[in-house]
Amino acid sequence: MASSNIEKPMIIGVAADSGCGKSTFLRRVSGIFGTKVSQGHTPQGDFMTVICLDDFHTQDRKGRAAAKVTALDPVANNFELMYQMCKALKEGKSVMKPIYNHETGKIDPPELINPNHVIVVEGLHPMYDARMKELLDFTVYLDLSDEVKIAWKIQRDMAERGHTLDNILASIESRRPDFEAYVDPQKRDVDMVMQILPTNLIPDDTEKKVLRVRLLQKEDTDVDAVYLYDEGSTIDWVPCGKKLTCGYPGIKFHYGPDTYFDNEVSVLEVDGNFAKLEEMIYVETHLNNTSTKFYGEMTQQLLKNPNAPGSSNGTGLCQVLIALKMREMYEKITGRKVLPRAA
Ligand code: ADP
Ligand code: G6P
Repeated sequence: MASSNIEKPMIIGVAADSGCGKSTFLRRVSGIFGTKVSQGHTPQGDFMTVICLDDFHTQDRKGRAAAKVTALDPVANNFELMYQMCKALKEGKSVMKPIYNHETGKIDPPELINPNHVIVVEGLHPMYDARMKELLDFTVYLDLSDEVKIAWKIQRDMAERGHTLDNILASIESRRPDFEAYVDPQKRDVDMVMQILPTNLIPDDTEKKVLRVRLLQKEDTDVDAVYLYDEGSTIDWVPCGKKLTCGYPGIKFHYGPDTYFDNEVSVLEVDGNFAKLEEMIYVETHLNNTSTKFYGEMTQQLLKNPNAPGSSNGTGLCQVLIALKMREMYEKITGRKVLPRAA
């Protein structure tokens, strides 16, 4: 393993079930860290590298089928290798990482991963193994309710991949026991959870397109939680009116303290859709501790990718807020500054 001159890389873990928006979120994070991504299996940019933990499957698709184990089962994942490689990257060393080929279902020859300033490990189990968890400087869990997960799967797998509704529902059900046993519990102790739920603004909503998004921010961390108006208070806010244009069904914010499993958290909730992204500056003005570097940076980040999934609702907003916290954490750990990226 060759060494590099990158000191103190930061390692971030992003966990979620498949199809829950990890790649979409990480594109937003790349925007904040200004990553130019190279071609190839693993996105390796000039600042951030994103490692997909599917690459540490112990067996190919056929092997898993023969052994009757799902990819979510820890026995199907090589945690020892994952740990050794992430540790090496954190020490500024290059590694030869295996590749799981999602098209063929086989394990391809390994590829060279060079150290980088920020390494993101994303997948089903970044915080499952205690030694891996210990390596991570910042952890995020994307928590979709079943209704939303099904709606997104239908959108992707039915509309774009020709699967039937029955197939999609059966696949979610068959994964459920392992998901609940090995993936979902990781959310109990992470720095930030983004919960994505159906809206409360439309009674009996069947489409599940309007979302209620809750950002749970652990209080006891090195970065301060984002708050609305008054830190520690409980606040409901409907900003629609003279300063914020709202279409149907409008937008509603909630902020306040809560307990999540064993942790004190603060919750920022955004229910509904934004009608005009450029007006997000009004919302930004009322949020504090956003870790922006200049007035309007949060809005600018949203405007950068207006058509990215979630840009006009709380998912896009929370993606940006989490990414800004990651940047602040990087600066705290390394003592280095990340220049804000121009729009
Ligand atoms: P993962 O990387 O976790 O498998 P993706 O980022 O590929 O998930 O997203 C899975 C699907 O969900 C895609 O079709 C994507 O467009 C959709 N999606 C992701 N994030 C959002 C969002 N915030 N709002 C709506 N759809 C989304
Ligand atoms: C799911 C998991 C992935 C895994 C894949 C393997 O999508 O979320 O982490 O790599 O299953 O399934 P496959 O169809 O390739 O056997």
